[in-house]
Amino acid sequence: MDSIIVTGNGPLSGQIPIAGAKNACLTLMPATLLSEEPLTLTNAPRLSDIRTMTTLLQSLGAEVQSLQDGQVLAMSSHDINNHTADYDIVRKMRASILVLGPMLARDGHAVVSLPGGCAIGARPVDLHLRALEAMGAELDLRDGYVHAKAPSGGLRGGTVDFPLVSVGATENALMAATLAKGTTVIKNAAREPEIVDLADCLRRMGAQIEGDGSPTITVQGVDRLGGATHRVVTDRIELGTYMLAPAICGGEVTLLGGRIDLVGAFCEKLDAAGISVTETPEGLTVSRKTDRTKAVDVTTEPFPGFPTDLQAQMMALLCTADGTSVLEEKIFENRFMHAPELMRMGARIDVHGGHARVTGVEKLKGAPVMATDLRASVSLILAGLAAEGETVVNRVYHLDRGYEHVVRKLSGVGAKIERVKGQ
Ligand code: EPU
Repeated sequence: MDSIIVTGNGPLSGQIPIAGAKNACLTLMPATLLSEEPLTLTNAPRLSDIRTMTTLLQSLGAEVQSLQDGQVLAMSSHDINNHTADYDIVRKMRASILVLGPMLARDGHAVVSLPGGCAIGARPVDLHLRALEAMGAELDLRDGYVHAKAPSGGLRGGTVDFPLVSVGATENALMAATLAKGTTVIKNAAREPEIVDLADCLRRMGAQIEGDGSPTITVQGVDRLGGATHRVVTDRIELGTYMLAPAICGGEVTLLGGRIDLVGAFCEKLDAAGISVTETPEGLTVSRKTDRTKAVDVTTEPFPGFPTDLQAQMMALLCTADGTSVLEEKIFENRFMHAPELMRMGARIDVHGGHARVTGVEKLKGAPVMATDLRASVSLILAGLAAEGETVVNRVYHLDRGYEHVVRKLSGVGAKIERVKGQ
């Protein structure tokens, strides 16, 4: 297994290009299953999760061609000949559940493996299933699979009222509703930019959707969807992650393609911590206003709140802040596994249930550390950028799921970072 070695190296300067959003692309790709005509995505990120979704779609009979070094995905679902998403693929990536709504809506039946838990929490899929039931689907859970059938005549519009906000369940419901007969109202819908991006793409394919980006989405079902070409929205989590690099190390870095509206709540916390963010036509420029970052409290929430996917990276910043910060994780119950690793680097953190209390130290010290999930891995790299000495981050395959060319992007702004091949 490869590892990444980071050596604290002082201020950073330059530009980092931000890729298309992994989590948008992972829901835009299954949207191809809704139409017999081609769907082409541009600005796709080059990541192992995207390759996993490619394998899944291909296993169902879809064509997926990766063009222009992976930045263009040309897909066609003309010949869907298998309606079973196998456990061997689904267990690698939970987003696989997103093929359920589209397959069911288009062909009236689908069998999808239940994903199971993962490192950051239990992560059930009950809300996805509830939404499809509200559109008339009959579901049977057996042998670890969801066996789903639409009523004769296909899914019908209904009211989906989510008891809690779920990004994936909103996406599944939205895709299924585009081909359901009649009107579907999705209440307490997720408002993430990835939902708006999905709705934009579906509208290009001929869907009738209103209200995306607000808590109530209304979908008027249509008989069929056509083809489209769609540009994947900027990855707000990659953006926020790299904004933290100059915040932690000092210097000034411009994140090309960055927009404040994608990371509003995060920018408010950076401002309170003493980090300056300026928006220009080319992106966001970030620098530190003071010698030492100030402590701030952070609570993760659904969009437009502070994203859970930036909590680990923010913790890396707060480890050397002046004062004590409290981070509250409200989305995933077990998402503090980076804390003990950061403590190996000298951080002072107490975790109690959903809260982590971080008391800033002057300086972190390099150490061998272990990545436990995607965002945890990158938080360790960020911490290593400003630590004294060498930090070796092991198990970096997690990183390849969500960050393309991380070594190239960070060394391009002056960081001392290299990837070494495992035995
Ligand atoms: N939940 C349920 N039942 C469900 C679905 C969700 O109880 O049927 C719970 C979850 O366990 C969690 C909360 O609802 O406590 C929110 O989960 P959500 O469904 O919103 O998460 P997701 O759709 O599975 C996406 C991203 C995650 C990101 C979350 C929250 C994708 C592929 N994944 O997951 O991204 O953390 O939304 O914003 O879009 C990552 O990129 O590192 C990542 C984990």
